[in-house]
Amino acid sequence: MTDALVDRFGRVARDLRISITEKCSLRCTYCMPAEGLPMIARSALLTPEEIARLVRVAVHRLGIEEIRFTGGEPLVRHDLVEIIRLAHEAAPGVPLSMTTNAIGLDKRVASLVAAGLTRVNISLDTVDRQHFAELTRRDRLPTVLAGIAAAHDAGLTPLKINAVLMPETLAGATDLLAWAIEHDCRLRFIEQMPLDADHLWTRESLVTADDLLAVLSERFTLAAVGRDDPSAPAEEWSVDGGPATVGIIASVTRSFCGDCDRTRLTAEGTLRSCLFSSEETDLRTLLREGATDDDLVHAWQSTMWAKPFAHGLDAPAGTRPTTALATTEDFAPSSR
Ligand code: GTP
Ligand code: 5AD
Ligand code: SF4
Repeated sequence: MTDALVDRFGRVARDLRISITEKCSLRCTYCMPAEGLPMIARSALLTPEEIARLVRVAVHRLGIEEIRFTGGEPLVRHDLVEIIRLAHEAAPGVPLSMTTNAIGLDKRVASLVAAGLTRVNISLDTVDRQHFAELTRRDRLPTVLAGIAAAHDAGLTPLKINAVLMPETLAGATDLLAWAIEHDCRLRFIEQMPLDADHLWTRESLVTADDLLAVLSERFTLAAVGRDDPSAPAEEWSVDGGPATVGIIASVTRSFCGDCDRTRLTAEGTLRSCLFSSEETDLRTLLREGATDDDLVHAWQSTMWAKPFAHGLDAPAGTRPTTALATTEDFAPSSR
């Protein structure tokens, strides 16, 4: 029997995002502190078997139709292939994708595809080596580009590139788009959200979708083509008449919360109904104390029922919600 994951506002979650680690091989300034995040004990992370059990419940009991693995950086987990393989066995036919920085992907892509991985989105803010090293605090651009080429060769397409909008990426936006088109990648620019470890985000200094459109329009002719589906975060624009496109994920200024179809699991096995929710449900303890599938279904459904309506990040300063949603202190990349 399938029970849907519905919230108070009638939204139905069909997309499960599973963070599998909070660690990362980069230190992007808008995400991680230079020293990285505090270590999580290995025993606190969900095992591949525990992840597969939750995938089975999510797909067979709760109507989940697609699954994305995120981090931190999924590739830092040595048992990633096993995680994908067991998830695929638990939910054959369900698309399994991953959001990654692509470091080391070239060496592992064949085994990941063989295990059941169907697609990747790759985070890349610039193709200028010096700029990449400054933004990520690591000189690893050549490895990332090797990972992108390998993903293409392995058929993990359409290959999407995520670039976070900042003053520096705005300056390089036309070059990055030209590079993406040349390399057959679907580029999406993302408005920055207050997820940075150093808490430097302000709404007033945000680089917006409108800022980006103004800059791109100086070199390209753009025409709005809408979203791939109503719950897709990116609005797509055709470039110079197509077929090339550029996507804009305007998480702040054109929030898509009203159509959100996501539910999230952190690396430590807690459920979050929203990227910004302060409430978490500890599924790991339930699992380890012998919960039945029915127990997991009920815990998951009640968490989603309490999902907040919207993040409120675009509200005027002083009126942003502080109780229903998390502050940046509560957020860790392990739930992105
Ligand atoms: P596709 O299915 O390939 O389109 O993937 P996706 O865009 O849903 O996933 P991806 O991991 O590539 O996320 C792209 C951007 O959307 C990232 O910057 C995320 O931080 C942001 N994002 C992901 N999920 C959410 C969410 O639930 N709410 C908001 N506001 N932003 C999100
Ligand atoms: N705002 C928006 N997107 C972010 N990402 C990381 N930090 C932020 C932020 N503060 C993006 C990464 C990656 C995806 C998982 O989230 O670039 O593509
Ligand atoms: Fe790592 Fe992604 Fe955070 Fe960069 S944004 S430090 S690649 S988790």
